[in-house]
Amino acid sequence: MKKYRIAVLPGDGIGPEIMEQGVRVLDAIASKYGHNFEWKEAIVGGCAYDECGHPLPDETRQICDNADAIYFGAIGGPKWENLPPELTPERGALLPLRRDYGLFANLRPAIIFGPLANAASLKDDRLEGGLDILIVRELTGGIYFGEHRRGDNWASDEMIYSRGEVERIARVACEAAMKRSRKLTSVDKANVLDSSKLWREIIEKYVHENFPDVEIGHMYVDNAAMQLSTRPTQFDVIVTGNMFGDILSDLASAITGSIGMLPSASLREDGFGLYEPVHGSAPDIAGEGIANPLAQILSGAMMLRYSFGMESEADSIERSVAHVLEEGFRTPDIAKGDGKIIKINTEEMGQRVVEFLD
Ligand code: IPM
Ligand code: MG
Repeated sequence: MKKYRIAVLPGDGIGPEIMEQGVRVLDAIASKYGHNFEWKEAIVGGCAYDECGHPLPDETRQICDNADAIYFGAIGGPKWENLPPELTPERGALLPLRRDYGLFANLRPAIIFGPLANAASLKDDRLEGGLDILIVRELTGGIYFGEHRRGDNWASDEMIYSRGEVERIARVACEAAMKRSRKLTSVDKANVLDSSKLWREIIEKYVHENFPDVEIGHMYVDNAAMQLSTRPTQFDVIVTGNMFGDILSDLASAITGSIGMLPSASLREDGFGLYEPVHGSAPDIAGEGIANPLAQILSGAMMLRYSFGMESEADSIERSVAHVLEEGFRTPDIAKGDGKIIKINTEEMGQRVVEFLD
């Protein structure tokens, strides 16, 4: 039986609590479908800094080097905010993981699960019965990874994109669009930035030459933010650069009204990937056992689909989550709106998802 080696990096705050449920659901899948998952846990983020002085210790890197995928919880918290930038959980661990493992394609679905529609921030008529958008964010280039310079009275961050970087993210976005409605919107700031003008030219040409069936449109990022917050259902797949994707994906998740539900995948060309919930480490509720583990569990489903090619297993987890919600089970963050609501905690939520796996 093929062994799948998974590096488990729970991180800080609620990370360990939700990770426990994520692993539990994947273990249940393994016994149901006869797979062999080998878990290797490692520390990352603020807790790693506290324990050994660096948010991404060498030992953690080694475990990731030897893994087929990285299952990531959440990192950061007020305790570590004022460290030197290179030692913060974000700049010292998360960004190096993305860069060093070449995880250039970040998939962030913004979905409203039917039973949660009345918790969304937009009125139902604007959502026309649901929302299912996929944001494809370029993750290892642009302003995040250009040269950062600092003088006494000035600072600069270089925003740079090359043809190869834009083409490879265009390919990922087009492949995703082909599996959906074939509608792709590229977001940039081509009225002001040269890097965006180049981005737009490359995307336009790439799509026409390689995916003639994909209908490509372009939008400036300020307009895209307005359109997303007023008429989100006009979008299907959005492709954009690193910083615009960071901002728009938070906006899209806010529209769904349940950030505790949203998973993400950060992928390399060969299928290796890092899977993490979109939400953060929520230090305010850490340790209380009430955090919503569904984004972590759904990130596990993405891992099965994108790194291991286990489509039915991923579908099974997603169906089970939908079923659990239909039955009215809710952690406190999503226990709003009308209809049947049964309040449960983190552990019970994991247990329900396991029970409903088909
Ligand atoms: C995200 C986060 C990160 C980012 C931070 C924590 C560095 O906001 O994954 O969206 O800006 O990419
Ligand atoms: Mg962000």
